[in-house]
Amino acid sequence: MFGFCVLASSANADETLTRARALFKALPESAQEASQLDPIDQNRIDLGRALYFDPRLSASGTHSCNSCHNLALGGDDNRADSVGHGWQSAPRNAPSILNSVFNEARFWDGTVANLERRAMGPVRTGVELSNTVDQIERTIGSMPQYVDWFAAAFPNEAGPVSFENTARAIEAFKSTLITPSRFDSYLNGEEGALSPEEIEGLALFIDKGCAVCHNGINFGGHDYYPFGVFEDPDADAQAIGYRARFVVTETVVDDRVFRAAPLRNVALTAPYFHAGSVWELEAAVGIMADTQLGERMTDLEVSKITAFLKSLTGTFIPLEYPLLPVETSTTPRPSEEVLPY
Ligand code: HEC
Ligand code: HEC
Repeated sequence: MFGFCVLASSANADETLTRARALFKALPESAQEASQLDPIDQNRIDLGRALYFDPRLSASGTHSCNSCHNLALGGDDNRADSVGHGWQSAPRNAPSILNSVFNEARFWDGTVANLERRAMGPVRTGVELSNTVDQIERTIGSMPQYVDWFAAAFPNEAGPVSFENTARAIEAFKSTLITPSRFDSYLNGEEGALSPEEIEGLALFIDKGCAVCHNGINFGGHDYYPFGVFEDPDADAQAIGYRARFVVTETVVDDRVFRAAPLRNVALTAPYFHAGSVWELEAAVGIMADTQLGERMTDLEVSKITAFLKSLTGTFIPLEYPLLPVETSTTPRPSEEVLPY
């Protein structure tokens, strides 16, 4: 009898692995594989890392990409809303930058130019860095160390210091921010990478229907769905009057429609949902079951799914904190002025 149970449960575990392989994809091992920008060059990655951490890309000299997409905090800012230029608040919870290179391929048409353009938005958006193309180019061009780094990262270009190359370098760095997890080892066939409880959680995640929306390499991040398919979420889980992804994509008009959030590293990126109103992962899972599946889950089911989601926490590549180029007399000075977008 006991032997039979063991056989039955290992048969289930094999079946879960087969089903998981059909729905999800393991992260690649290297930045080169992850990159859609070819060729990926170490000089360009190093330059992108410096720019990522440089607050002088913001008009006030206060905010860098890392302010809101903090690499020491799972790639986000652990706040409900983000604070940007002049203490304005961005209307949305900042998503994690980790593995986000895989989100964008589906948003846009997948060409190199479009991927790079995506990185330019935050630099200019008023509430984020509130800077202008001209001022960013003047800032970078005023520091000889940056000029040398741009020349090395973009050889054979007549004017390597440009806003466009700033975005390309940040994008190259971003493509290295990939975090393989125990779940990836499991998909790649490493027996025992997940505990029996986590495998049961994975099976529930698939059986209950979570994977209908949260699938692929990032468990989401590629398609839009109404938040509240069966039941409306509580008012505080929604940012009322905010026009969902329409603002970003200009393709979805419904103000209840949001991107199925990518779930890698989700245990590190509270608070949850676009309004950032829910702080406990268990609570977020319960809300999803109610609103998206019309199903009240038991506490045990919620805790197994949550255990599985925690296995998506990845290993972060060791990162060197960059020393940034020194300013000169021509570097534009910080300004609190809100520049026109
Ligand atoms: C003031 C906070 C703030 C700063 C500074 C900021 N961001 Fe963001 N970022 C956000 C928020 C909030 C969103 C979500 C916007 C939305 O979906 O409406 C976002 C979204 C993104 C996304 C989309 C991620 C995904 O999951 O698809 C990327 C990529 C990104 N930012 C990169 C950057 C880069 C690169 C910089 C620096 C040049 C930067 N951000 C600076 C707050 C910030
Ligand atoms: C019909 C599509 C759909 C289904 C089914 C679905 N989700 Fe979601 N999920 C979404 C959307 C859309 C969001 C973003 C909602 C928002 O922020 O407004 C989301 C957000 C989340 C978040 C928050 C992540 C974050 O970073 O804020 C978690 C956790 C989550 N889902 C887990 C689950 C689980 C577990 C299930 C199954 C019980 C599930 N989802 C079922 C579409 C779906």
